[in-house]
Amino acid sequence: MTNPLRPSRVALITGASTGLGETIAEFLGGVGWRLVLTARTESDLTAVAERLSGRGVIVRAVAGDVGEAAHRARLIAEASSLGRLDWLVNNASQMGVSPIRPLLDHPVDVFEKVLRTNVIAPVALAQLALPLLRETDGLVVNVSSEAAVDVFPCAGIYGASKAALDQASRIIAAELADTGVGVTSVDPGGMRTRGYAEAEPDFDLSSVPTPDVTLPFWKWLAEVSSGEVSGRRYLAQSGPWDTK
Ligand SMILES: NC(=O)c1ccc[n+]([C@@H]2O[C@H](COP(=O)([O-])OP(=O)(O)OC[C@H]3O[C@@H](n4cnc5c(N)ncnc54)[C@H](OP(=O)(O)O)[C@@H]3O)[C@@H](O)[C@H]2O)c1
Repeated sequence: MTNPLRPSRVALITGASTGLGETIAEFLGGVGWRLVLTARTESDLTAVAERLSGRGVIVRAVAGDVGEAAHRARLIAEASSLGRLDWLVNNASQMGVSPIRPLLDHPVDVFEKVLRTNVIAPVALAQLALPLLRETDGLVVNVSSEAAVDVFPCAGIYGASKAALDQASRIIAAELADTGVGVTSVDPGGMRTRGYAEAEPDFDLSSVPTPDVTLPFWKWLAEVSSGEVSGRRYLAQSGPWDTK
């Protein structure tokens, strides 16, 4: 039962209708956090929200595109109406054209769309969330990828966007030093998800783990302070994380 003197924490999770975002929502909801969830496809998002609500989790599900300013404002308003925000999890992401193809074969408007979803939206959400995060010593979690660091031909737009997100995370973390608000990057590692399957339909994903493989990392992250992890980049499948 929630202690009225210590209201349960609130997370805003983007891309929560499937894959890693759904897993993080399931985990946080299961340990008593209240949730604001979003993704573009309303039916998928509603299915996740109804399942969690059925287990007693307080969920606000708002379908929409994080690339749109009005939608971002709605998401922050939902968190505000829950009274606080502890984590902003920027997990929603796009690869570009699926199946993936060389960077220079991508239409420029696809590049712009990927950057808007993977880089601009996370930073814009952090801007809007900052006043709420200041009240809780909250944390921005930007979900990154190995593609930000290594060279994966045909994942160039995605990799460039994640590299930009990593650098933005480091810079904002430095700019917010000593405010109590933290920013961290998390590379969850390869996971068997819808997005991965769509990007590489010919690749056999049967030996790739499901997003549940990252659960020990999220359990650990929920127990540490924002200051301890701010400015750092974690590999969620390669603990122990406190030594990184
Ligand atoms: N899977 C992997 O192996 C892997 C490896 C490294 C890093 N990652 C990272 O982990 C995160 C989750 O990956 P995943 O594989 O679980 O992704 P996924 O299966 O592709 O799911 C993406 C989620 O984001 C939503 N979404 C996409 N664009 C959106 C937009 N513009 N506005 C709002 N929601 C949007 C999708 O729903 P709608 O389409 O309905 O909007 C869905 O809920 C991503 O940041 C990804 O880069 C994944």
